[in-house]
Amino acid sequence: MDFLSDALNYRRQHGGGIKQAIARAIGIKPGFRPHIIDATAGLGKDSFLLSSLGCKVTMIERSPVLAALLVDGLERAIQGQSLPFSVKEMMTLVKGDAAKIIRETTAAHTIYLDPMYPHSSKSALNKLEMRMIRFLVGDDLDAAKLLDTALEYASNRVVVKRPKGAPTLSGITPSHVITMKNSRYDVYMI
Ligand SMILES: C[S@@+](CC[C@H](N)C(=O)[O-])C[C@H]1O[C@@H](n2cnc3c(N)ncnc32)[C@H](O)[C@@H]1O
Repeated sequence: MDFLSDALNYRRQHGGGIKQAIARAIGIKPGFRPHIIDATAGLGKDSFLLSSLGCKVTMIERSPVLAALLVDGLERAIQGQSLPFSVKEMMTLVKGDAAKIIRETTAAHTIYLDPMYPHSSKSALNKLEMRMIRFLVGDDLDAAKLLDTALEYASNRVVVKRPKGAPTLSGITPSHVITMKNSRYDVYMI
């Protein structure tokens, strides 16, 4: 994973700052930056973006291959020293199953979930990265259970990224929804 890529650099600088959808879903406000548990870290892009906006993020990833790619990306970002924030201070990776780790965590303010969707829309699947993640980890068929655990342990909110038109992750209706062109954030306030 290359956190110093031109694409991520551009998104970091021109993505809309704290007004963009993910920031609003997470509850970022002027002067307020929640600590986030990203329970489905993947390649760490969302975590990176949230960290660049000032949030400390604990990333959890259970796939050993993706975790290794993340470690490599984080190390290179730290060594590169070209970012205006400290990756070392803001981004922490924990390897393992998020449901188990969340249950062992004393405090979870905001939990973010972006599980693989079994029937990803064509546009999502077309992305090489997503196809690679699917090839490595398959579908996250236990995602609804992870949401249940997150709802039990988060003290402020749980945010779930879903493809456009997909049903909610479990039967529970979100408190509010933030929609984008191809996807949406279901926000569950505690
Ligand atoms: C769609 S990807 C996430 C992409 C990520 N948001 C990004 O920006 O790169 C989903 C990832 O969540 C991980 N995952 C799913 N369920 C998990 C769980 N219970 N514990 C840890 N990791 C999990 C999968 O291994 C996969 O790497």
